[in-house]
Amino acid sequence: MRIEISPYSMRSYREGDAASLAQHANNPRIAANLRDAFPNPYTLEDAERWLGIAKTMDPITVLAITNETDLVIGGIGLVLGQDVHRFCAELGYWLSESYWGQGIMPRAVQAFTAWGFETFQLKRIFAEPYAHSPASCRVLEKSGFQREGTMRANVFKNQRFVDQHLYALIAP
Ligand SMILES: CC(C)(COP(=O)(O)OP(=O)(O)OC[C@H]1O[C@@H](n2cnc3c(N)ncnc32)[C@H](O)[C@@H]1OP(=O)(O)O)[C@@H](O)C(=O)NCCC(=O)NCCS
Repeated sequence: MRIEISPYSMRSYREGDAASLAQHANNPRIAANLRDAFPNPYTLEDAERWLGIAKTMDPITVLAITNETDLVIGGIGLVLGQDVHRFCAELGYWLSESYWGQGIMPRAVQAFTAWGFETFQLKRIFAEPYAHSPASCRVLEKSGFQREGTMRANVFKNQRFVDQHLYALIAP
């Protein structure tokens, strides 16, 4: 599985990805914007554990973002809804700080959500960035998502309650 956003790609995780994954994911500025399941520090063992999860996933809904030499520099994925939410999915993503500010993530989100809508026959893809993460909100806006509201004190992260914004994109 590979989606090109030249010169970068989104592709299935594979054995051998652990070193670059741990190198780029090991950053408190990234972890601060994600769930606690994304640890900090992010060790080689954490990377191996994630590769094990990604390998056994069926269907595969998470992809690595890779650079010109196919090394992992980020991640993007969907969590598919169930029951009455079965036509919805939640989007999550992160990118190595070395690559921030080049417009990579909006391009990744646009290509990935197009793939997700088609592959999983989705009606709605949503994301819940923390209110203290304006860059993440901007990525969604640049990708066509609309802000639908704010969930106050919805998250307890790094010893404090934080608001989450709700963004969504409806199938074209
Ligand atoms: C959010 C993230 C993916 C951004 O990716 P990126 O490829 O650098 O995105 P862009 O290059 O489009 O830049 C981000 C946009 O946010 C803006 N931005 C950055 N910091 C900002 C700030 N502090 N306040 C307001 N806007 C900000 C930039 O100006 C840019 O918008 P513009 O093109 O209109 O000027 C990256 O910062 C990241 O991985 N962060 C940590 C994890 C995370 O937040 N994940 C999302 C959880 S839902």
